[in-house]
Amino acid sequence: MKKFPEDFFFGASTSSHQVEGRCSNDWAQWEKLNAERLARESDKYSSLPGWMSFRHEASDPGNYISGIAADHYNRYGRDLDLAKKIGLNAYRFSVEWQRIEPERGRWNDAGLSHYSKMIDAMLKHGIKPFVTVWHWSLPLWLSRKGGAESRDFPELFAEYATRLAREFSGRVRYFIPVNEPEIYSLNSYLRGIWPPESKSVFRYYRVMKSLVKAHNMACKRIKEIIPGSFTGTACNMSFFEPGSGPFNRLMAYASDRFWNRYFIDRVRHSIDFIGVNYYFHNRINYGFNRNENLRVSDMGWELYPQGIEPVLLGLKKYNLPLIITENGLADASDVNRPWYIEAVLRSVYSAMEQGADVRGYFHWSLIDNFEWDKGFWPRFGLISVDRKNLSRKIRKESAEVFSRIIKKGLKS
Ligand code: FCB
Repeated sequence: MKKFPEDFFFGASTSSHQVEGRCSNDWAQWEKLNAERLARESDKYSSLPGWMSFRHEASDPGNYISGIAADHYNRYGRDLDLAKKIGLNAYRFSVEWQRIEPERGRWNDAGLSHYSKMIDAMLKHGIKPFVTVWHWSLPLWLSRKGGAESRDFPELFAEYATRLAREFSGRVRYFIPVNEPEIYSLNSYLRGIWPPESKSVFRYYRVMKSLVKAHNMACKRIKEIIPGSFTGTACNMSFFEPGSGPFNRLMAYASDRFWNRYFIDRVRHSIDFIGVNYYFHNRINYGFNRNENLRVSDMGWELYPQGIEPVLLGLKKYNLPLIITENGLADASDVNRPWYIEAVLRSVYSAMEQGADVRGYFHWSLIDNFEWDKGFWPRFGLISVDRKNLSRKIRKESAEVFSRIIKKGLKS
């Protein structure tokens, strides 16, 4: 058997806006303005293999309103019980900024005490809390001010992170200030498909730079308050596989430098670990995404578990511990998730055998949730959530595979 180290983190991730419910932030506002349009445009997914089974849901405007989401705000206790049952020893969740600072400089005790209670519940279960300080959704006052583009953003962000660190000190050691800065800036500021729908290279760069600064300031403040804290990134990293010839090799190298390393190269001195969110493989053959014989998820994303190995090996040169902070797939019928989890963990193990210092693996996601501009139809959870009554059920096959690997390791 290939067993992972005793202290390896086996966890799952969520984010506040996607699971909690009743978030009143910039995203919730944007959903209301865009739900009808997104429902109308849903036939763009009609070529996906599972389209017939989610067509009804995807063409309903209600699918695009996060609303009560999975009501994790009230049901986290049950979700943690189930996480424990699967055998997880860590949970990555995010704090909803609007609940903590509903107005500029006004700290809301009810919000702080909610997350405090959640953390206590985790500790009681022997589950290590990994706190994402910010997973994209903004308080309304801040989005009105220009959000991540605002000149004050880094300082405001650092103040908010400081408040959390004070509150959680003594109970939380692991912090991730910013989730996927590259996906956020890309979709919100360059492609213009997420709020605030900007399509400007200039604004995109400005936001990337602002997030770098905010991240570094937050790490510094968290360290001052909690000296033994362990802070890191959660960057979206793809495997860029070159086709043959020097041109493709050069393109793959440049893509890796830019997409996988831009942020890390600018925050490496303030972090204790590199967090990797792995979903994508890009075969470069005089263009991107020239992949053949695709196996895809319900969302049409290629399933290429082995790509995580070169990504991890490519990060060895930073000499920092690595944690897979997200990896998973939309798979409502749970046909692919079981083999996918096993295949990814085999590749992680293999990277570790070759010297990558990997300390943990977090599956995305713990429970079915609200997938941003796609809404509820993509089902990412290890635990399914019934949309009608919000009841939970562990996805048996996936959980069996994951639990077995956690307990016994991988078959040699
Ligand atoms: C990642 C996001 C996460 C979720 C997964 C599927 O890019 O961080 O919130 O949407 O993709």
